[in-house]
Amino acid sequence: MTSDPYQTKRGERDRSITREPPHRIGDPVGTHGPTSRPEGEHPFLIGEAMTGGYGMGADILHDCTIAVEPGEIAVIVGPNGAGKSTAMKAVFGMLNLRKGRVLLDGEDITHLSPQDRVAKGMGFVPQTSNIFTSMTVEENLEMGAFIREDDFRPTMEQVYDLFPILKEKRRQPAGELSGGQRQQVAVGRALMTKPKVLMLDEPTAGVSPIVMDELFDRIIEVSRTGIPILMVEQNARQALAIADKGYVLVQGRNGYTGTGRELLEDPEVRRSFLGG
Ligand SMILES: Nc1ncnc2c1ncn2[C@@H]1O[C@H](COP(=O)(O)OP(=O)(O)OP(=O)(O)O)[C@@H](O)[C@H]1O
Ligand SMILES: [Mg+2]
Repeated sequence: MTSDPYQTKRGERDRSITREPPHRIGDPVGTHGPTSRPEGEHPFLIGEAMTGGYGMGADILHDCTIAVEPGEIAVIVGPNGAGKSTAMKAVFGMLNLRKGRVLLDGEDITHLSPQDRVAKGMGFVPQTSNIFTSMTVEENLEMGAFIREDDFRPTMEQVYDLFPILKEKRRQPAGELSGGQRQQVAVGRALMTKPKVLMLDEPTAGVSPIVMDELFDRIIEVSRTGIPILMVEQNARQALAIADKGYVLVQGRNGYTGTGRELLEDPEVRRSFLGG
């Protein structure tokens, strides 16, 4: 973890890895806490009042809202089966919503396919099967650039700068890498699309505490380049410590919402979801 857990210096790095900085209203990048917006304005990415489930099955999400503002890291936590991954999939267009909508930079994208959402600037790293194990690290990154027609080499160099171990292992099948390195491949692959917003579902699943800290540092670094990050995390305390905004989902509903700090200090949240 860095010596600056609340990321007061966020925003100082170059932002060339992203396309253009998201349309920004209110606070500049680097300010801790959710950005305040004028009435009628929407966050950069929002899944708003989402209700729906899988196929013809029962609803999993009930009026669930998750959002991220420019310059923010927003973190979703909650018990197993709470619907965190389902909420992420809904925002990415992998679920038919019965109610609610998804807005990206003010545009209603509720009815777009996941592929069209990628073209609009959404990068998504799912919880499982997020790399091609038989392909090399570099081939995985190339797959990430599939929608691009411009030269993606500079982006690949930026990914290698962010995750130097991937450059070292670029000719190795991704399936031979450690858990933490695979997650770097998955995040790197998403970055290859030059996303305007990055969605990560449990990027630190199954890694040691040291590797988790390193991954969080890299995620903070990505956010400093100007890419808002919406992520689900099992390591709730650590993730809320770096979060500008946090959501506790409970049975498909918004249980608690606040700044990362507010949630960490909330006695009820601590008792019920953070182990005291
Ligand atoms: N593909 C699917 N088809 C049908 N039901 C599903 C599917 N995926 C998840 N579910 C159900 O949706 C509910 C929420 O699951 P989800 O995976 O979103 O939870 P989660 O909060 O991400 O849990 P975890 O912490 O274990 O990742 C669970 O009851 C689960 O059984
Ligand atoms: Mg999940």
